[in-house]
Amino acid sequence: MVTNINYKDLGLVNSKEIFEKAMAGGYAVPAYNFNNLEQLQAVILACIESNSPVIIQVSQGARKYANQTMLRHMAKGAVEMARELGSEIPIVLHLDHGDTFELCKSCIDSGFSSVMIDGSHHSYEDNIALTKQVVDYAHQFDVTVEGELGVLAGIEDDVVAEKSTYTKPEEVVDFVGRTGVDSLAISIGTSHGAFKFKPEQCTKNEEGVFVPPPLRFDILEEIEKQLPGFPIVLHGSSSVVPKYIDMINEYGGQLDSAIGIPEDQLRKAAKSAVCKINIDSDGRLAITAVVRKVLKENPEAFDPRKYLGPARDELKELIIHKNKNVVGSADQA
Ligand code: G3H
Ligand code: 13P
Ligand code: ZN
Repeated sequence: MVTNINYKDLGLVNSKEIFEKAMAGGYAVPAYNFNNLEQLQAVILACIESNSPVIIQVSQGARKYANQTMLRHMAKGAVEMARELGSEIPIVLHLDHGDTFELCKSCIDSGFSSVMIDGSHHSYEDNIALTKQVVDYAHQFDVTVEGELGVLAGIEDDVVAEKSTYTKPEEVVDFVGRTGVDSLAISIGTSHGAFKFKPEQCTKNEEGVFVPPPLRFDILEEIEKQLPGFPIVLHGSSSVVPKYIDMINEYGGQLDSAIGIPEDQLRKAAKSAVCKINIDSDGRLAITAVVRKVLKENPEAFDPRKYLGPARDELKELIIHKNKNVVGSADQA
């Protein structure tokens, strides 16, 4: 017989209190994806060092790659490591882009403290029904639920959307009221992956860097007016740091025209009702850039620690930078 595990027994927290603090403090809590040891070490050590609350999140792809039980044990280990190092930072273990009730239930039953049910690819009414079913189950165990309204362009797990459909502010009150979600992911111009905009959609600044069209802050403001004080989530919030794209291309990679969300846009969003900012691609790019460089410069290297170690160090520095200068969560734990 399988026994259910409550996240509280693993030392995790749900997102309720950290979102309330983020809303009051004018910053967002960072949500970093992980699927391996080095990513998780980098995230936790960076958040300890910058004294930031953190959401560590697991996608379906990550579950397939690393196994849900393994990932949950890693999260438990991360909490224990933080406490051993004398840090009390709040840590949330979150399911990213859950697409069925069964998957959300399985995560809730096995120790996740927060889940996303992403019904954004369904009809409005089907999204409400599915989201409410997850909320009704999750709330029995004090697990918080993120819903989504509007569709981001790009790839969400195996679902590819050609164009984004911005969130309709006139729907948010009805959606939140009828589902009971604790936070809402919205679509205002961000998208997943490293190719968020085509070069022809952008202008170029003095340094020759592509500047994409601004996020739709008008839609965000309208949503805030409709739902005062309600936690909003931004997916697809990697900046696609040009330094890493250049390194990847210099050391044998081929990533042309990768363009992300400028940091100042994210900083502005973090000061609003946006309480959670999702970052995955930037971490992948940082790791890839360093692994390529180290292997090129050290052709004799074959111990994974020799290239994953420096990659982990780079990711840690990147996360400290994000916490301090982008989402603003440093010193807020
Ligand atoms: O939103 C998607 C996340 O970046 C996770 O990506 O499904 O490739 O693990 P993944
Ligand atoms: P990025 O691809 O921009 O990092 O977005 C990640 C994300 O939204 C995870 O849910
Ligand atoms: Zn996402």
